Formats: sequence, structure tokens, C-alpha cells
Amino acid sequence: MTTTAEHTPKTTAEVGGLGHSRRRVEDARFIEGRGNYVDDIVLPGMLHMAIHRSPLAHARILSIDTSEASAVEGVIAVVTGELLAGYNLAWMPTLSGDTQAVLATDKVRFQGQEIAAVIAVDRYIAQDAADKIVVEYEELEPIVTPQRSLEADAPLIRDDKEGQDTNQCYIWESGDKEATDAVFAKADKVVDLDTFYPRSHPSPLETCGIVADVNSATGQATLYMTSQAPHAHRTVFALVAGLPEQNIRIVSPDIGGGFGNKVPVYPGYVVATAASLVIGQPIKWVETRYENLISTGFGRDYHMHGEMALSNDGKILGLRVDMLSDQGAFFSDAQPTKFKAGLFHIVTGSYDYPVAHVTTRGAYTNKAPGGVAYRCSFRVTEASYMIERLVQNAAYEIGMDPAEFRRKNFIKKDQFPYLSPTGFVYDSGDYEAALDLAMEMVGWDEIQKEKEQARAEGRLVGIGLASFTEVVGAGHGDDYDILGLRMFDSAELRIHPTGKAILKLGVRTQGQGHETTFAQIVAEELGIPASDIKVVEGDTDNTPYGLGTYASRSTPVAGAATAVVSRNLREKARKIAAHLLEASEDDLEWEVGKFFVKGDRDSSVTIQDVAFAAYTNMPEGVEPGLEGVHYYDPPNMTYPFGSYVVVVEVDPDTGQWKVRKMVAVDDCGVRINPMIVEGQIHGGLTEGFAMSSMQYITFDEQGNCIGANFLDYLIPTAWETPRFELGETVTPSPHHPIGAKGVGESATVGSPAAFVNAVVDALWHLGVRNIDMPVSADRVWAAMEEAKA
Ligand code: CDP
Repeated sequence: MTTTAEHTPKTTAEVGGLGHSRRRVEDARFIEGRGNYVDDIVLPGMLHMAIHRSPLAHARILSIDTSEASAVEGVIAVVTGELLAGYNLAWMPTLSGDTQAVLATDKVRFQGQEIAAVIAVDRYIAQDAADKIVVEYEELEPIVTPQRSLEADAPLIRDDKEGQDTNQCYIWESGDKEATDAVFAKADKVVDLDTFYPRSHPSPLETCGIVADVNSATGQATLYMTSQAPHAHRTVFALVAGLPEQNIRIVSPDIGGGFGNKVPVYPGYVVATAASLVIGQPIKWVETRYENLISTGFGRDYHMHGEMALSNDGKILGLRVDMLSDQGAFFSDAQPTKFKAGLFHIVTGSYDYPVAHVTTRGAYTNKAPGGVAYRCSFRVTEASYMIERLVQNAAYEIGMDPAEFRRKNFIKKDQFPYLSPTGFVYDSGDYEAALDLAMEMVGWDEIQKEKEQARAEGRLVGIGLASFTEVVGAGHGDDYDILGLRMFDSAELRIHPTGKAILKLGVRTQGQGHETTFAQIVAEELGIPASDIKVVEGDTDNTPYGLGTYASRSTPVAGAATAVVSRNLREKARKIAAHLLEASEDDLEWEVGKFFVKGDRDSSVTIQDVAFAAYTNMPEGVEPGLEGVHYYDPPNMTYPFGSYVVVVEVDPDTGQWKVRKMVAVDDCGVRINPMIVEGQIHGGLTEGFAMSSMQYITFDEQGNCIGANFLDYLIPTAWETPRFELGETVTPSPHHPIGAKGVGESATVGSPAAFVNAVVDALWHLGVRNIDMPVSADRVWAAMEEAKA
């Protein structure tokens, strides 16, 4: 791995502030097998739940016979939708403002949908009994494409919704249609492209689950849940179940990966909670792998049509994009209410042109719900894939070198802050620097020569390029909200008398290393060693309210809250230091970890001295203690970016291709922990490698999910994954207190789309035009044959 930027931290390694590749503190317990996941939780008297799911994608339910299941020894209860309806719980609201069946009563709308649940004394009995439930169906036409879904004669999927007389889930428009059409009418050239980003599943290592413990004596509901957003989930539970919010405590213990999959509220959570409430005992439900793959939030499934208007000399004049999303049966991912299509209108990318018009339409289909923020901020991966495919086509149609084409059209360094034609204000960027570095690191010119030589030897070597700009850190509360909850986040910092601190956050790490990195922000601001700071997340009773971790928002929002609360405490510390040093506050200077009197470096107090005094020796009129909370509503999103180059070699006889070299230059502003950022990038690139080469989950005409196991849906291991060489440029975010932009497990830098783009581009040089994912050997071979013909 290569990192080109120099990191010269302001703090010592002992303090471990920004720029230190501090080792992940959370790993000790994971490596020793001492993590505490939902399935590790065992409570006295705990019962187990299993779910009976629909084998059909679309069918009317005629009857449900639970008698045989109820008769199984060890079964405590069988829950159906009809039973839940008695508590007004058969349906629930989703985080996108739609409704979703908790247990189906009228129809099943996707294969794997929840119909009934069995509560039993052990998990195997529960599962065996669930299999004995008999459901009689009247089969209906399954709709498995959004195109069919929107045809006039398609059967209505959501006939449960009043006023819903088509299968259209939403339509959203941005940009200026009239001005864009006018530019297209006069353009020298228009390139267009139809492409598809296939459905994929985030498939976290740990599946979803809950232990619901409702105490009938106290009314207290403690829910141990695989939740990326515990506070938002608590509010939804309060609304769904009508429980008083103060009596609901959601504990999100260690999470084994989320990738957007643990953002939606799943029916299993609600049924287990309702059953615990009624039965009065704790209930555990943990999905199997198959259940996770078949029924929980998918990503992508975007059909895109794009057009780019160009001048003969290679200037982009405008963009027109029309896209169609397969949302599945319920619109249940978390989308900001004012941006129903997510952030797809960032599709204008890294380029400067005056006009664009984007239409995004969502359709209901008979598939499990889709659209989660999987390794991106809402729909940003799809958007960056689309724009780079168009840029690639445009460069080749114009006959321009693709790097030159990009340089000519990039938003220039001095144009930031830059207002995009769809209304985003890009905070900062230096796109040429990232592109130049990527080309230099890969040895672009030498590889061009090598390509020629390889061809002479009958080998096929291709080199491909992609750039990207993404938008993360949702968001400014006026523009971004989930169900009306503004997308702020929070940090509470408490410094104890001995100078050790505890930092509590509204976000929830699922593997991103927050326990390590957020302590580094405090260390930077206050000089307290990171190892003296404990980071606590994921317990709604013990952390301040926040919207959660997804869409690469933790660092831009909760990271900013952490920096601000630390700075606020530093100002209080200054008052105490002035008192201890018998000086005026204005005469004090701060350097990491201590205050000293200007001009007299011997008169100083450390932050630890101040912390002790905050509890023992306060100045008159100053409140005791050293703690605070800050809710941060960011003024804008942050815009990480980068450029990737991939060199592939293709076997001309079979179409098999392998990555010879891959260089990724990413810019996420100031890096808190370079090692962790590199890990995040590796994750994103591996996802791109998977999508380009092997990962495909699809549905047959009956709506059967093909690929609901890891033998068919392939997860790349270290064995197949190519080596990545990483480079870095640093363009801080001007509005972020520490200049960081987000990266995320739901990653932005480490762009999966850009990896695929670069592969597709590399293949283009070998005559393989406009290939879509997955770029399998047979398709590459067929495309090469077609090109020869
Ligand atoms: O919201 P999520 O945790 O997925 O994303 P993030 O907070 O943007 O980044 C994931 C991890 O990378 C966290 O541990 C961050 O603190 C770290 N990071 C960093 O070290 N430097 C940055 N500029 C951005 C993120």
C-alpha cells in the first residue's frame, strides 16, 4: 500500500490526535472473541422467535392455518398479522414515509415476506413450528422489473394504499428542463447511454436481530437491536407501538457490519417487541443468512438513461438524465423527505457545465425492499457510475484522450465553492491534482508502451480511468430530514477529575472504528491522550440524540459535534486555568494540552490540572464540573473526490480478466486516522471489484431470489481481491471544524462505482464497448467477438 501524502501530526504519538495511525482500540475484544453482539445476549426466561415467510412473490392470502404449529410442544404463541391488527400493529411506517406490512394480512408482495411468527422455548422448536404453518394463496402476476411495473395494465402492488392507483412510488425532478433542452437543441454532439447498476446486497457478516425485553411491571422496553440508528429507531418504535419514548431504551451493541442494511426497521424487530409486551418475557430473534439475503434492504437496482451535450472541441454543455429505480414492495430505506431519489442529482459529477435536468422515478415491484445507502450516501454510487460512463463515451466519441477530456471539463480549484446545476454547493476540491497523482503513480505513459508491446505478443492489456465526486455528511437540517427529524448529530463530553474523559455520541459504529478515531478528535482539541478517552455509542438512555451512522455522515456531523464540544470545554478550561495561574484569561495561550501565561512558559497548567480544579477549586461564579453537549447541524454537506486507474489483462481466448494494477487516489480532506481511512477505502474498492467481477443477485420471472446464499452470491476474499495502491491528496472542507470530509463504511472515497468505471474503461480499449455489470468472462469474450465481427 502506498500513501503519498505526508502526515505531520500536531500532537505527539502519546496524545494521538489527528493524523496518527492509531491502532484500533476496538479490535482487542473482537480478535479475542469477546465482542458483544445481539446474539450473545441471553436474558433470564428468554424465548425465541422464528418467522414463516412467503414462498411466492405476489399472491393474495386466502387463509393461514396455524393449528399444527401451535400444537408443537414448546411453542408459546403463534403471531399472525390478524392478531397484530388487534393492537393496530399489522402495518408500520417506514423511514421514507411509506407504510410496510409487519405480518402480511391481505397479500404477500415479495418472496420472503413475513407472514407469521412462532415464539417458542428454543430456536429450533420455533423454526420447526414455523415450517408447519399452512398458508393458502391465490397467485397473482409477479412484477420483477420496474419497466413492467409502470405499464398501464400491470397489477397494482400496493392496493393497500389509499389513492395509490399506479405502481409508481415517487417521481422527483431537479435542474432546469427548459434551459437544458435548449442547450441540447444547439449542441454539436450528443452522446447517450442506457445502463443499469444491478441489485446487490450489503450482506453484513452479522445478520439482523433483536432481543426484546418488555417489562410488564415497569413498562420499560429494552431492545437490544442491530441498529445503525438507535435514536431514530426509538422514535419510530414510539410512534409504531404507542409506547412512551422515555420507556424505550434501544441498545445497539457491537455490530458486525451494517453497510446500510441495518438502517431500516424490520418487521422482526416489531413482532418480537409486541410479543414480549404481550407474553411478558424477553424474546430473541436473529435472522439466518438466507433470511438476511432474501428479505432485508438491498442496494442499487437502478436503470439509467443519460445524455450529454457537447461542443466539437470537447466541452460538456449540459446533462440530461432519466432514471428508474426498482424499490421493491415497500419504500423502506431511509431517504431525506425532500430528496426522494436520495442524492442522485449529484450525477453532474466533477464537471463544470451550466445546465442539467434529472428525473428520478421509483417503482414498486415484487421484490424485497431496496435502495439502502450501501457504501455510499443514498444514491451517490449509482450517480457517479452514470456520469463517468457518459464521460468515457463522450471522450471517445469526440476522439479526445479521456484524461484530457476530464481536465478540460473539471470544476477548477478556484471555482469552489461551486454551485452545481442541480443546486448543490460543492465545498472544495482539486480534481486535477488527484488525477495527475493517479496517472503518475500508475505510470500511465509506460503502461501505454507496455500495451502496445503486449498486443504484439498476442496479449491484451487495457488501462482505464475514472474520477468521481461524492456528497456525504447529510446534512443541513433545513434541507435534509428523515421523517421530519433534522439530520444533525451530537456529542457529549465529560472530563473527570483525574483528566480522563468519556465521549458519548448519537451515531453508531458498525466497524468503522469510531472508538479509535473520535477519541483522536478530542485528543487534538484538548491534548488529553486518546487512550484516556472512552467513546460510548449505541445506547439511547446514555447518549445524546442523533440520526445515526450511514451515508458517511458520522465524521462530517458527529465528528464536527465532537470538535465543537471539545472547543467549548477548552473555553471553560481557560477560565479555570486563569484562576489557577492568577492571570487574566486574555493573557493565556493554549498549546496542545496546556495553558501558559504569555511570555512566561514556566507558568502553565495542564488540561489534567484544570480538570481536577473543575471539581475541587473552581473560580467564583463558574459552575463546577467539566462537561458539555453539542448538537451540530452542518451548514453544508462535504464533497470527497478522487481518481482511479485500473490496468487489466484479458485472456483473448476466454474473456477472463484480471487486475494487473490498481491505483486509487482519494481526497477526504484532513484524515483523522490514515490507517482507518485506508481500511475504509479498501472496503469500497473491494465492493467495486465484487460488483465488476462476481457479485450478482437476481430474480427469475416468478420473483424467486436467485443468489440468496454465499455460494451463489459471491463475496470476494483476500485471495481474489487485487492489490490496491493508494494515494492521497488533501483538500480540507472549509466549513468543517477539523477540515475532514466523510469516508464511511458506507464509503464514499473508496468508490465502488469508480472502480467499476475504470475496469469498464480499460476494457473499452480492448474493443469491449458499453458492457454492464457483472463484467463476466463470457460477456467480455462475446463482446470481443462482436467487436472483431
Ligand atoms: O458514517 P461513517 O462512520 O460510515 O463514516 P465516517 O465517519 O465518515 O468515516 C468512517 C471512519 O473513518 C471513522 O472512523 C472516521 O473517523 C474515519 N475518518 C477519518 O479518519 N478521517 C476522515 N477524514 C474521515 C473519516
